[in-house]
Amino acid sequence: MTRMADRVPPGGVDSSTPNSARIYDFMLGGKDNFAADRAAATEILRAFPESREGCRVNRKFLGDVVRYMANEAGIRQFVDIGAGLPTQDNVHQVAQSVDPKAKVVYVDNDPVVCVHGRAILAAAPGVAMIEADMADAEKILIGATETGLIDWSQPVGVLMVAILHHLPNPYAEVARIREAMAPGSYLAISHLSMADSRRDDTTKLQSTYDSPRSVGLFPRTVEEITRFFGDFDLLDDTAFIAPSVLRRFAALGWGALARKP
Ligand SMILES: C[S@@+](CC[C@H](N)C(=O)[O-])C[C@H]1O[C@@H](n2cnc3c(N)ncnc32)[C@H](O)[C@@H]1O
Repeated sequence: MTRMADRVPPGGVDSSTPNSARIYDFMLGGKDNFAADRAAATEILRAFPESREGCRVNRKFLGDVVRYMANEAGIRQFVDIGAGLPTQDNVHQVAQSVDPKAKVVYVDNDPVVCVHGRAILAAAPGVAMIEADMADAEKILIGATETGLIDWSQPVGVLMVAILHHLPNPYAEVARIREAMAPGSYLAISHLSMADSRRDDTTKLQSTYDSPRSVGLFPRTVEEITRFFGDFDLLDDTAFIAPSVLRRFAALGWGALARKP
């Protein structure tokens, strides 16, 4: 596999500003990151030493919810918003291990992620990557349709895993996407949480992203995160994250899967 530095989008790569996708790649043990990303990751690990393990737990959550949607709920089309740099157990690999005809559209607003993702996914049938911002839900809905892979009139699995905490107020956009999803669809969300017991550490975490060119960080309480699911029926989160793991990471993050009635 070629490294990210070998593929550069038209605007070039800003390697001096820490970047969410690359910090996460570093946390997962990947090679697609620069010194600024590693320095930011080191700061994050100082505030939350458990965050590397948290990234792995988050990635496992993503794989587990996709497996559940494909196996138990018969979902055959997925839209992964804030997809990040391709790593192990990408959504299409998990979904297509259940049904090789499963379709997946990846969405990210980072041009580097998109260039890299397209190159890696080029050979994968039934898979596309589109560049769009979560702040523009309409573009995501239309873009996914235009790939020819997603039919919003049929049940779909939508993933917003470790992305919504980068947006200051994405409630209206999430609601627009929920509205477009057919009954029987599923929405998976994981999100950095804001626990009073770790408020100082959370503030330190926010400051590592606090650069004019970097994405922001907006941790939320579990109650605020739950509101993203609207009137969808929440599945028991202990089905995807063991209670002991949920307790250990309560200060760092929370995730759940919900079904549209
Ligand atoms: C921490 S990574 C998560 C990757 C993957 N979803 C996972 O959980 O394994 C967050 C991703 O969200 C993307 N992202 C951040 N803000 C976004 C936005 N406003 N619209 C679309 N993507 C965004 C970043 O570029 C990055 O690739």
